[in-house]
Amino acid sequence: MTPEQMTTEIAPAKLNLALHVRARRTDGYHELETLFAFAQDGDGVSVAPAGVSSFVTTGPFAGAVGPAADNLVVRADHAFRQAFAPDACHAITLDKRLPVASGIGGGSADAAATLRALARLHGVPAETPRLMAIAADLGADVPACLVGRATLGRGRGDALTRIDGLGGMPALLVNPGVAVSTAAVFARWDGVDRGALADTGTTLARALAGRNDLQPPAEAVAPAIRDVLRRLAACEGVVLARMSGSGATCFALFDGAPARDSAARAVAAVAPRWWVHATTIG
Ligand code: C5P
Repeated sequence: MTPEQMTTEIAPAKLNLALHVRARRTDGYHELETLFAFAQDGDGVSVAPAGVSSFVTTGPFAGAVGPAADNLVVRADHAFRQAFAPDACHAITLDKRLPVASGIGGGSADAAATLRALARLHGVPAETPRLMAIAADLGADVPACLVGRATLGRGRGDALTRIDGLGGMPALLVNPGVAVSTAAVFARWDGVDRGALADTGTTLARALAGRNDLQPPAEAVAPAIRDVLRRLAACEGVVLARMSGSGATCFALFDGAPARDSAARAVAAVAPRWWVHATTIG
């Protein structure tokens, strides 16, 4: 492969600034209202035309990636080729820099980055409805990750409306090193509808007025989440500390980069085994 044939896309970490679970559905999913926002950085996906298909993982969390056949990147490639390029083969590399099964998009963000990279490689316009349909088939969060900008998600989380982002707000992502199953956390939701997201105000104000309804069931599965949130909430300059998605990654938004950076040092010092990542949220 020559470098000019290779297309690389970042798979930014996805955050749920708020996540309201409103009802159980009959299709095994839940009716949600969620504010999606994206970090500046995340995993990386590179694709290139090849004689045979291949899939390689690199990066600090490569070892935690399961069998290739189950990987959403491979499934995204398969679905893309069926729809747009039946004769193509791709060499794909996934650089896994974010913890897996951790509530920040992971496989969904990787699948979306794969679709974006393949669309670029094959000259398919990014806004093609068929691409969005493939994304929705791959998982409830994949359409939001394909858009990759702040959005309000309704339905399964895949009925999207663009909203203003946070404009590069400094943030810290912290994961206590526990992988959490999304399905297991949703299954423990208590079925109580605690109400809608605020429908006016800035995205930050709506997030502050909101909640993550999956936090209590996730804490029951992974009690370390409570410790992470307690630590984050106690840091100076914190505007909001909350769990993302079904956990176990939590985030804190800060009023400035210096406060975020000193919080990063403090958290890493007290909990050296936790994954601590300083970033900004767009
Ligand atoms: O769509 P995805 O495969 O990412 O979802 C993983 C699991 O999370 C689903 O099988 C379902 O158990 C749960 N889920 C849900 N309601 C949603 C999104 C996900 O119950 N809106």
